Amino acid sequence: MKISTKISLIYYSELACSITIVESLNYLTVILRSLYNGFMKIMAIETSCDETSCAIVENGEKVLSNIIASQIDLHAKTGGVVPEVAAREHVLKIIPVLDECFSVASCGWEDIDALAVTRGPGLVSSLIIGTETANVISYVKNLPLIPVQHIVGHIYSNWLDIEDDVQFPILVLTVSGGHNELILMRGHHNFEILGETRDDAAGEAFDKVARLLGLGYPGGPIISKVALTGDKGRFKLPIAKTGRESLEFSFSGLKTAVLNETKKAKVVDEKFKADLAASFQEAVVEALSQKLIMAVKKFPNVKEVHIAGGVSANKRLREVVAKNLPENFKFRYPKLIPYCTDNAAMIASAAYFAYKKNSESFSPPVNIVPTTSFEIF
Ligand code: KG4
Ligand code: ZN
Repeated sequence: MKISTKISLIYYSELACSITIVESLNYLTVILRSLYNGFMKIMAIETSCDETSCAIVENGEKVLSNIIASQIDLHAKTGGVVPEVAAREHVLKIIPVLDECFSVASCGWEDIDALAVTRGPGLVSSLIIGTETANVISYVKNLPLIPVQHIVGHIYSNWLDIEDDVQFPILVLTVSGGHNELILMRGHHNFEILGETRDDAAGEAFDKVARLLGLGYPGGPIISKVALTGDKGRFKLPIAKTGRESLEFSFSGLKTAVLNETKKAKVVDEKFKADLAASFQEAVVEALSQKLIMAVKKFPNVKEVHIAGGVSANKRLREVVAKNLPENFKFRYPKLIPYCTDNAAMIASAAYFAYKKNSESFSPPVNIVPTTSFEIF
């Protein structure tokens, strides 16, 4: 080897070594600060679909701010989310939402110990706005950055603003617009998927039926409101049979049955819509709660039963699960309605418990790349 090559190799290895030392020292400062204070503040970003959200959460539970800029009005015009429109709106909203999140929490960057961001699944063009923002902040501020799987984020919405301790194992029903699972959670970030949907997710079924009845977007809140005045027994709608032992869901047959009722109807007036909405909601709620109760029977050592995701905001679902669940199980749903639908506070909570398990994996420099995979990480 030539002398000059040797010298440059020594130079670069020393440089690399000093960079590593500086990074380690910065990282150590973060850990020492959180140990000294006894609490850890995480600033999280969520942009997986049509909500731009930033939050600051202390120790995974205490929500200091949770700002959500919803795009509902924008997508109501098209009856659903147009990915390019959603992405452009995230670009416009991300910095104002970030600023507001700091001002509501009365915090500055010096108070933040780590960052978190939703990595996926979701719309790639939306996710990328959040992940790139987080990557840049992590680089500039030299802060750890924790990637969070969106469904895992929803699961942790049940930790937000709680005053007691959650007891494992937990059976979690996640019910959103894009996903629907039954999950056994044995400890923090320890998940076993017991069943999922074979076709539509429950929220997706609410959205499609609302569109069919000309009720608007998003379907869940509108259907549950219209259903209040409807007769839930008027239409006999099917509950999918996915097998006696199966913990899987299916909602496509139910959706077709609703379509057939509207085709058969001579008059589609407000009364018809309210009765069909109520009957449809009842069928979804029955299907979800039947499988949840089946899972509870299969895993009698479970201590708590949780529901999470947009559809967990549904009052009828909460009522029916609470009524059918044996008394020895603690039943939780997110404390506030904004914690049910997409929000960054749940991402901060999931990140906190992931960081506590394995802090080294998240030290800067990091480069989070979005994913559409449903795999839990
Ligand atoms: O969890 P989420 O905000 O987004 C996804 O991760 O998909 O869930 C959105 C879904 C939508 O399909 C919406 O119609 C449904 O949650 N949703 C409801 C209610 N509020 C929102 N479904 C039934 N009843 C509600 N009150
Ligand atoms: Zn979601």
